[in-house]
Amino acid sequence: MDFLPLRHLLLLIITSFPPFLQPLCHDDDSIALLEFKNSFNIAKFASANPFAYPKVSSWRLEENRDCCSWDGVECDTDTGRVVALDLSSSFLRGSMNSTSTLFNLSQLQRLNLADNNFNFSQIPSAMNHLSRLTYLNLSASYFYCQVPFEISQPSNLPFLDLSCNDLVLKSPNLSSLVRNISNLKELHLSYVDISSGVPSFLANFSSLTSLLLDGCSLHGEFPNGIFLLPNLQVLDLQTNPHLMGYLPEFQSNSSFEVLLLHNTIFSGKIPSSIETLHFLVQLDFGACRLSGLVPSSLVWLGTLTQLTDIGLYSNNLHGHIPSSLGKLTRLTDLNLAANNFKGQIPSFLQNLTQLSVLWIGDNQFTGEIPSWLEIFTLLTHLNLGMNKLHGLIPSSLGRLTSLTYLDLQMNNLKGQIPCFLRNLTNIELLNLCCNELSSTLYFDMFLGLKKLDSLLLGGNKLSKCVQTSKMNAAASRYNRLEGQLSIPPPSTEEYQISNNKLSGEISPFFCNLSSLRLLDLSNNLLTGKLPQCFENFRNTLRVLNMSNNQFHGSIPQMCANGSNVRMIDLSHNQFQGRLPQMLANCMMLQVLNLGNNRFSDVFPSWLGTLLNLRFEGSIPHSIGILQRLHVLNLSNNIFNGKIPSSLGNITELESLDLSNNKLSGQIPPQLAQLTFLEVFEVSHNHLTGPIPQMNQLSTFDVGSYEGNLGLCGNPLPRKCESSVPPSGLEEEQVSKSTLEFHWMTVVPGYVSGLVIGMVIGQFFAPQKHDWFVKTFGQRKQKGRRRKRNPWRN
Ligand SMILES: *[C@@H]1O[C@H](CO)[C@@H](O)[C@H](O)[C@H]1NC(C)=O
Ligand SMILES: *[C@@H]1O[C@H](CO)[C@@H](O)[C@H](O)[C@H]1NC(C)=O
Ligand SMILES: *[C@@H]1O[C@H](CO)[C@@H](O)[C@H](O)[C@H]1NC(C)=O
Ligand SMILES: *[C@@H]1O[C@H](CO)[C@@H](O)[C@H](O)[C@H]1NC(C)=O
Ligand SMILES: *[C@@H]1O[C@H](CO)[C@@H](O)[C@H](O)[C@H]1NC(C)=O
Ligand SMILES: *[C@@H]1O[C@H](CO)[C@@H](O)[C@H](O)[C@H]1NC(C)=O
Ligand SMILES: *[C@@H]1O[C@H](CO)[C@@H](O)[C@H](O)[C@H]1NC(C)=O
Ligand SMILES: *[C@@H]1O[C@H](CO)[C@@H](O)[C@H](O)[C@H]1NC(C)=O
Ligand SMILES: *[C@@H]1O[C@H](CO)[C@@H](O)[C@H](O)[C@H]1NC(C)=O
Ligand SMILES: *[C@@H]1O[C@H](CO)[C@@H](O)[C@H](O)[C@H]1NC(C)=O
Ligand SMILES: *[C@@H]1O[C@H](CO)[C@@H](O)[C@H](O)[C@H]1NC(C)=O
Ligand SMILES: *[C@@H]1O[C@H](CO)[C@@H](O)[C@H](O)[C@H]1NC(C)=O
Repeated sequence: MDFLPLRHLLLLIITSFPPFLQPLCHDDDSIALLEFKNSFNIAKFASANPFAYPKVSSWRLEENRDCCSWDGVECDTDTGRVVALDLSSSFLRGSMNSTSTLFNLSQLQRLNLADNNFNFSQIPSAMNHLSRLTYLNLSASYFYCQVPFEISQPSNLPFLDLSCNDLVLKSPNLSSLVRNISNLKELHLSYVDISSGVPSFLANFSSLTSLLLDGCSLHGEFPNGIFLLPNLQVLDLQTNPHLMGYLPEFQSNSSFEVLLLHNTIFSGKIPSSIETLHFLVQLDFGACRLSGLVPSSLVWLGTLTQLTDIGLYSNNLHGHIPSSLGKLTRLTDLNLAANNFKGQIPSFLQNLTQLSVLWIGDNQFTGEIPSWLEIFTLLTHLNLGMNKLHGLIPSSLGRLTSLTYLDLQMNNLKGQIPCFLRNLTNIELLNLCCNELSSTLYFDMFLGLKKLDSLLLGGNKLSKCVQTSKMNAAASRYNRLEGQLSIPPPSTEEYQISNNKLSGEISPFFCNLSSLRLLDLSNNLLTGKLPQCFENFRNTLRVLNMSNNQFHGSIPQMCANGSNVRMIDLSHNQFQGRLPQMLANCMMLQVLNLGNNRFSDVFPSWLGTLLNLRFEGSIPHSIGILQRLHVLNLSNNIFNGKIPSSLGNITELESLDLSNNKLSGQIPPQLAQLTFLEVFEVSHNHLTGPIPQMNQLSTFDVGSYEGNLGLCGNPLPRKCESSVPPSGLEEEQVSKSTLEFHWMTVVPGYVSGLVIGMVIGQFFAPQKHDWFVKTFGQRKQKGRRRKRNPWRN
């Protein structure tokens, strides 16, 4: 209490200090800042950093005229001009161009706009008005397209971070962009599409401390002089699968702390001088082609005692784990997965008490799971899956209460599903699939596991599935569950009971599952009609898979307005009647598989069109109808009539199967616009006329077209008579403006780079993705790029 007055005094001095010291900010700076602020919305989703907050919302002239004291703003202490602006992670959302008043802040030296959402704006070329800039950070902010040349015109720009956007560096290319910035210190371009070699002059940029080029489509040979730069601490070249290179003899004054070469084609030996990298904390040589990666020659690992992260996965290492690892007591992440290590899990690993990630799955480890694993109290990820471990799951694992990920799949583990799993209250994924576990499965065993979102127990000998209480996700695939389908609790979000022998009808009580995101009942013996109330799921449901059952009747009105459903698979049932036109409302739909049913409709022309082509007034929300569809399967039904040319509108379509129906008429030439098509099947219909020869339609196998007596032209042997007119010309004319407008609306969807596997991947765990691939066949990954953001995994 005695000190209280003194503390008040101190506070008083501190808070009244700056105004005496620093001139007030200039009015034109505060106006420019406010106009900049007002050109954006504040949207929570625009920033991914959990500590993000809207810095600009405290900027108010009426309360405080001095912009120098505004959050994120810094002024020069002599002139009072704004010299630094840090609006990273500030929920900013909106477009930006060269007219922005940001560029009136001509004295700006540091600008950080990272982790906002600039709505796929191009980086404005007016950047060159900020000629004093020395620090520019636009990472993870939804900028798009070619990086303008003007960005490098302040040739004194030692800090440049453009990573994690949808940017391209082609013209100017990397070389011309940075050639003149010879004082470069930190260059972060991860996930910028560079698609060229790395310029060798970078080996002369002796100030470089950090070079991040993760996932840049680099090729050619990496200039290995760069490894010898005396100040380089961080080098990240991972995920450039065409980048060649080799490691030089390192020099003893090297500053390396982080060296990431995962998924490149670095080859050659690891030089013995690597043991001089005393500062190294992170090393990732996973999935590259370095030789000399045999356990006995990994002695140098033991000398790098600062290491916290080691990635050596997928390198065909065999033999026993090198014991030199036992010296690395600071290790937190150890990833040796996908090699051929054998023997028991070695006890010297007990030295690594700081481990939070132990990833040694997909090897040949034998013996039992050691009970001493309990000492790893910081462990969050434990992957021992895909080995040859046997015995019981030791109850000591119940002490690993930090675990979020436990994968023991595909071993030979026996016994009951252990009760101590109740202790793992942080667990999110639990994969015990494909062992020899046996017991009655009580879902309430997992009652306390509030964070669990994937529970994989398939491929065991579980006999009965009894669930009595709350649970967000339930998955019990590939078991021997029989009898009626049990109804999960109303709060269930994912329900996956595929590949069992459940029979009977779906109870109307399913309609109570108002939070359902994923419903997978495929490959069972279920019968009856789908309850009409399925429309209730419209806002939550993402995935509906009812394939391979014995359902009949018509399909419910699935997509009322606002539907978010991405995938509907009702194939291999006995559904009949017409397709509800309501499906055209499934704006987010990417997979529609209705094959092998008894639908007997005229081919629904609305599948590829917009409900309203008139575009009057405000944009109808139906604008995106089925534009996102990637897979459409209507095969083996009784569809008749013509293939509508409007299918050519679904530009992202990758798989189109219309085989075994009664379709007639010609193949509309508009389908040649579907340049992403990888699967195209129209066999066994009554189609006539020429196969369109533009683009790839003529490059599919004969089998795609066979069983249509009237079809001609490549790849069929039958030549077309020259008198056959091209089809589709009778279709309605499209005004140019309509088409352009339409293109504009497609761009954002395209740019966000979400191809189907990835979108599905966001809510499917990887192992579910396998199932997706199996169901729809292997697909090649397109050249589109996935945005990466450190906070958006
Ligand atoms: C920004 O600068 C432009 C010209 O350089 C000027 O016309 C405009 O008024 C300025 N805006 C503000 C808010 O200062
Ligand atoms: C984002 O960009 C689109 C297309 O350029 C535009 O229509 C939309 O209004 C922009 N949104 C915001 C919030 O600026
Ligand atoms: C630049 O953005 C402003 C509003 O942010 C907009 O009014 C203007 O039309 C845009 N200019 C160009 C050339 O896109
Ligand atoms: C850019 O900003 C992001 C987010 O604030 C930060 O993580 C990153 O380190 C910054 N880049 C540089 C080069 O400072
Ligand atoms: C980069 O662009 C410059 C100027 O256009 C050109 O001379 C150079 O060959 C290009 N370099 C690469 C690697 O493409
Ligand atoms: C680099 O600097 C030289 C000399 O100052 C200049 O002629 C050249 O145009 C600059 N190149 C780039 C790409 O800015
Ligand atoms: C590096 O700098 C030296 C000396 O200035 C010069 O001779 C050499 O050509 C430069 N190397 C590259 C790759 O630019
Ligand atoms: C680093 O060491 C090498 C030889 O080991 C030497 O040639 C070089 O000058 C040293 N660099 C610095 C910056 O000390
Ligand atoms: C385990 O760590 C101790 C020191 O903490 C060390 O003396 C011992 O050699 C290490 N064991 C192995 C196998 O490296
Ligand atoms: C479960 O955790 C409690 C403390 O949280 C601990 O006392 C108990 O031993 C654990 N059970 C098992 C089987 O590890
Ligand atoms: C479930 O739905 C039925 C009828 O569909 C209703 O009577 C019942 O109250 C609902 N139960 C819950 C828990 O919402
Ligand atoms: C869809 O295709 C039809 C027929 O080819 C055409 O009339 C219509 O304008 C197209 N819609 C859009 C938005 O392009």
